[in-house]
This record gives sequence, C-alpha cells and structure tokens, in this order.
Amino acid sequence: MAALTFQPRPRLSVLARLAVLLAVGLWGQTTAGAYDTTVCGRTAYTIPSNNMTFNADAWNPDVKGFQCISVQDSPPAFAATWSWSSNPGMVHSYPHVKLMAPGLPTPLSNISALVLSAQWSMGPGPTPRPALVVDHDGLANHGTSANVAFDLFLDRNVANARSEQTAETEVMIWVGRFGYAEPLGFDANMEKTCFTQTVGDAEFVLYQGQNERGTDVLSWVATANHTNFAAEVSPLLQFLWRKGLVSAGSHLGLVEFGSEAYHSDGIVTFAASEFDMHLVTGAAPNLAVGDLPAECSRAASTNPPQWLLSSASVVSATLLYLIS
Ligand SMILES: *[C@@H]1O[C@H](CO)[C@@H](O)[C@H](O)[C@H]1NC(C)=O
Ligand SMILES: *[C@@H]1O[C@H](CO)[C@@H](O)[C@H](O)[C@H]1NC(C)=O
Ligand SMILES: *[C@@H]1O[C@H](CO)[C@@H](O)[C@H](O)[C@H]1NC(C)=O
Repeated sequence: MAALTFQPRPRLSVLARLAVLLAVGLWGQTTAGAYDTTVCGRTAYTIPSNNMTFNADAWNPDVKGFQCISVQDSPPAFAATWSWSSNPGMVHSYPHVKLMAPGLPTPLSNISALVLSAQWSMGPGPTPRPALVVDHDGLANHGTSANVAFDLFLDRNVANARSEQTAETEVMIWVGRFGYAEPLGFDANMEKTCFTQTVGDAEFVLYQGQNERGTDVLSWVATANHTNFAAEVSPLLQFLWRKGLVSAGSHLGLVEFGSEAYHSDGIVTFAASEFDMHLVTGAAPNLAVGDLPAECSRAASTNPPQWLLSSASVVSATLLYLIS
C-alpha cells in the first residue's frame, strides 16, 4: 500500500495573489465610475454613509478559484469578479448586496407591496460591462454557470429571520440563469406546466427543494434573463403562504441581491447598479395568485391555515403601485 503523502493545499497563497492582481486590475481598468473598495473571499464591506453592506461571500470556495467584489459608494454599485474552474455542480460564492428597507422584519401577511429592482451585466474578463450588457458568447466560451438572484430569508421567529444561517426558509427570485445553474428541485418537465406566476413583464416558474443545512428553498426562476428588473413581487410571496407552501406566520427578515457563481473556466465579472427594495407594510391585499394546479398538489405539504380561509373575503385592500 502506497503511503499517503500530504499535499498542503495552495488555496490561500493563490487566492491572495489573485486578489491583489485583481484589485490592481480593477483599479487600473475602471475609469468612469471607479470603485472605492475591493474585498475578496468571505469579507464584507459597508458603505460608511448609509450602512449598505456588500459581501464577496465565497462560502464554499474551491482550490481552483477566487471571488472578489468591488464597491462604489455613491451611487451604490458593485462589480463581482470570480473564477471557479472545478466542481461545476456546486455554488461556490454569492457576491451580493444586502438591500435595506425600514419595516423589516415583517410578517408575510403584513406585506402590502414589495418592489425589487436591479440592473446588471455579465461577461468574461475582469472589466465590468455597462449596465444591461451580457456577453452571451463570451460566457458560453468560458462554460460559465451562474445565476442572478434576489435571496429572501424567512422564519416564524423574528430574530432567526434576520440571518442566512438561522432562517428556516429561503425564497429565491432568479432573474438570470446561465449554463447549468439549476435551482434546488429543478425538474425540466415542470417548466411552464406548474406553479407559474407573472409579475411585471417577467414569468416565473417555482421549484422546491432543501439545501444541505436542511433549509427549505423555494425558487421562482424567470423564463428569460431580465437585466433591467423592476417588479412588485409580493404575488410571488403570497402564492407561497396562501397555498401553505410556507408558514403564513413567517417573517421576512433579510433580502439580498447578487449572483450565485457555480463554474467558469476563466474570469467572469458580474456588475450591478440601481438595486433597490421598497417595502410597503400593512395588511396584504388578497391578490389573484392562481390556483394550485392539480398536477402539483404533491408539492403542497400543508393546507392553508383555517384563519386564512375564513378571513380571505374580509381582506380587500387595493394595490395600486406604480414603478417609475
Ligand atoms: C450605521 O450603523 C451604526 C451601528 O448600528 C449606527 O450607529 C449608525 O447610526 C448607522 N449609520 C447610518 C448612516 O445609518
Ligand atoms: C440567459 O442567457 C443565456 C445565454 O447567455 C441562455 O443560455 C439562457 O437560457 C438565458 N436564461 C434564460 C432563463 O432564458
Ligand atoms: C403591519 O404594518 C402596519 C402598517 O405599516 C404596522 O403599523 C404594523 O406594526 C405591522 N405589524 C406587524 C406585526 O409588523
């Protein structure tokens, strides 16, 4: 039997060198709208004037790769540069901004409207593309797999709802999907046949799964890439709690926007700007969220709570929300 020889993994030194090269590269290459700060790995940066926080969030790093995020303080914007060239089936990082709104955490049943917006771009190399530009061929040449998604965290306990680590439910809203990035519970056969909701000009298909922490993950996945997204998304949440897929007693505590990076043979830059969240609290209007299709009934683990059924006719708020 051959003796096992221990090979120290070069992760740190390679990462550190890449981080420095990248930071220097980004400083050198961005002229208009230069970024103020670059952080890498699992490091976060908070804009001093408004406490808006950005995280490179390489929570599942691989030996071959790195994740950095460059932040512009005003107006807030970021560029996330990364490469992960092995283990293509896994998410390695989620560079993101934490969106802020007075009123969080709030019970799902007390969300009158939730407007989420963002503009983004993506392409190969360390230089951010202008807003709304996607270099499809360049990404395909790198074999890039990634999504662009809002990540919402929910829990019946208010304190637990504030943290990715403690929240019992995660609701994702994917507005971009590249390569082999697939939501938990993905089933190509379900596409367009089940759990479909349209908000704004985007059509979303719902998938359901559990992550390795045992967190329930519900993913609304857009059927097209929306580089200029702005929509009142509360119907997506209402469908979940009114159909009993998420406890109606859950609180929404945390909302983030970023890109889950799975794989790329070369460097990729995801850039984002104009991201915002507008929360209107108050009794949720009884929106038309559609019936749970019969072919999807297996996914409905619980029935809507009784109080909801009896109070549904009483709820009659008007939703008139215009997105400029
Ligand atoms: C940022 O957060 C700190 C600590 O919570 C707080 O003291 C400060 O007032 C906040 N600043 C702004 C601009 O909100
Ligand atoms: C987004 O664009 C890529 C091409 O770069 C394409 O393969 C993919 O299907 C698009 N995603 C969606 C959800 O349409
Ligand atoms: C529900 O929203 C109303 C209106 O903003 C607010 O006054 C109330 O405190 C909220 N209730 C809860 C439980 O968050």
